Amino acid sequence: MNVWEAVADLVVVGSGVAGLTAALDAAGAGLRVVVVTKDSADAGSTGWAQGGIAVVLGDIAGDSVAAHVEDTLVAGVGLCDPVAVRQILADGPAAVSRLRARGARFDGPAARLDRTREGGHSAFRVVHAGGDATGAEVERALVAAATDRRLPLLTGHVAVDALRDARGAVVGLAVLDDEGRPGVLRAPAVLLATGGYGQLYASTTNPATATGDGVALALRAGASAADLEFVQFHPTVLYTGPTVGRRPLVTEAVRGEGAVLLDRAGHRFMAGVHPLADLAPRDVVSAAITRTLAETGADCVHLDATALPGLPTRFPTVYAACREAGIDPTTEPIPVTPAAHYSCGGVVTDLHGRTGVRGLYAAGEVARTGLHGANRLASNSLLEGLVMGERAAAAVLADRGARSPSGAAVEPPPAVPIAPR
Ligand code: SIN
Repeated sequence: MNVWEAVADLVVVGSGVAGLTAALDAAGAGLRVVVVTKDSADAGSTGWAQGGIAVVLGDIAGDSVAAHVEDTLVAGVGLCDPVAVRQILADGPAAVSRLRARGARFDGPAARLDRTREGGHSAFRVVHAGGDATGAEVERALVAAATDRRLPLLTGHVAVDALRDARGAVVGLAVLDDEGRPGVLRAPAVLLATGGYGQLYASTTNPATATGDGVALALRAGASAADLEFVQFHPTVLYTGPTVGRRPLVTEAVRGEGAVLLDRAGHRFMAGVHPLADLAPRDVVSAAITRTLAETGADCVHLDATALPGLPTRFPTVYAACREAGIDPTTEPIPVTPAAHYSCGGVVTDLHGRTGVRGLYAAGEVARTGLHGANRLASNSLLEGLVMGERAAAAVLADRGARSPSGAAVEPPPAVPIAPR
């Protein structure tokens, strides 16, 4: 079988927030970038994110980056890297501004965006879009920017393995298209932005693409992984019976804006479990639900959002999912259980996306920067993807200069066009 070949300066695997942010930055700095994604460009986890982006924009009295740092450290149960937390969160406001400059539109007036609150946050600091469709808007804006820039995007291509030279450095990527045809992308830098591995669990909020192949590829290439056991279970995922696979999320912002959890007898079981009650960090709420289910023998608990004004317009995604399941959340409580949601660990990187293997980078959910510790704070994931996507692109550029004996940018190899499919 013929193997097609192409040459680039950077191959990005994955087309979510981290991958496309890095790809756009690197292309903007003049690198030849190819993005590889195994499904359609918008099929990854980013597009499913509901609640928003946690960020301190400086316009909410009483909130500060220091408070955001503190909330993140508390949620991470003592296992975050405090340096990573401080640096990544401090970069958040500028990264969100650049995302807005790329075309992402958030709810509220441009000069003072609307904010919501989620579990573990001591302030209303989560910006959102489309009510509860933040990830979809972020993905739309980035895919549109990539299309405008004519970034080569190989959809339907699975990353099989990193190519390595005699010294072990990554020098490209082997791929297979969805009909099993092989191809080779030669590049001195490969960035993994492949998302997490929620699909390893029977029940998850993650799309079918979240199978952990980025972590596996990185391990085969000689990189390290850490904290893989810290898989976050989101407390409120719509329960419609014992189904397997992706289930609709009921964003934590619904609780942030007043909904409460009830057991089968109608008691608010989070009262007394944690000072933040229904808005405790996710691990606390998921554990309390699991305990309640074991004690009562029920299949699910209920989220009562009937007192929320304007639920269908404020939370259109949640409302549509409930209606599809035959539930009217404006008049009846929503049946929910926890489900696998986020991989807090992953490929170990420094704060610039570098793995321990030269030429191999990772950013977003696939990476373990130390931001999340044992339990990610709500809505810190899109923020990390943005910040670390930018930082990884900057590292790729810096490392190209470092590899050139003169310190100047390395002359790119002659381009070989990507074979038409
Ligand atoms: C949610 O909206 O509850 C999920 C957001 C997140 O995972 O941070």
